[in-house]
Amino acid sequence: MKKYYEDKEYLSKVCDILENEEFKKMENIVHHEGNRLDHSIRVSYHSYKWAKFFKLDATKVARAALLHDFFLEDNQSFTKKEKIITMIKHPEYALENSKKYFDLSPMEEDIILSHMFPIGSHIPKYFESWMVDFIDDVASVYEKSTIVRRQLSTATCFLIMVLVNNLR
Ligand SMILES: [Fe+2]
Ligand SMILES: [Fe+2]
Repeated sequence: MKKYYEDKEYLSKVCDILENEEFKKMENIVHHEGNRLDHSIRVSYHSYKWAKFFKLDATKVARAALLHDFFLEDNQSFTKKEKIITMIKHPEYALENSKKYFDLSPMEEDIILSHMFPIGSHIPKYFESWMVDFIDDVASVYEKSTIVRRQLSTATCFLIMVLVNNLR
């Protein structure tokens, strides 16, 4: 992950969320190949950087993207049906939960609520929401491919060793 913790400007916009005790609990929840906290930070920091590049509201993007999966249900033990329901409904859970701890603007609410579109039915209203929706998808594919990437790098190392041995 990019070094978000060295980016003082980014941290100044989200530190109250990162320091929230309830939010920190997401570190213990399995999400893709890692944990939900790392996933949320990844989506938030990349979205923040792109929002700055496009001259969008980077603060709202950083905060809402950080909260987009802020719910503490761990779906590891869920049935298939429960997993599907959670996949569709979790933006609503995240919004409800986020509102308990933080004040949200209409744009931040929209970013959280629409981040699963088109699987979820809430259509993004802002460019910022479309962007976080897309970056969440990219981050998810990246995280889900961790094992494959690890196996590929192991296979590459093995291939190089075989080639080097053959060149001797
Ligand atoms: Fe999500
Ligand atoms: Fe997500």
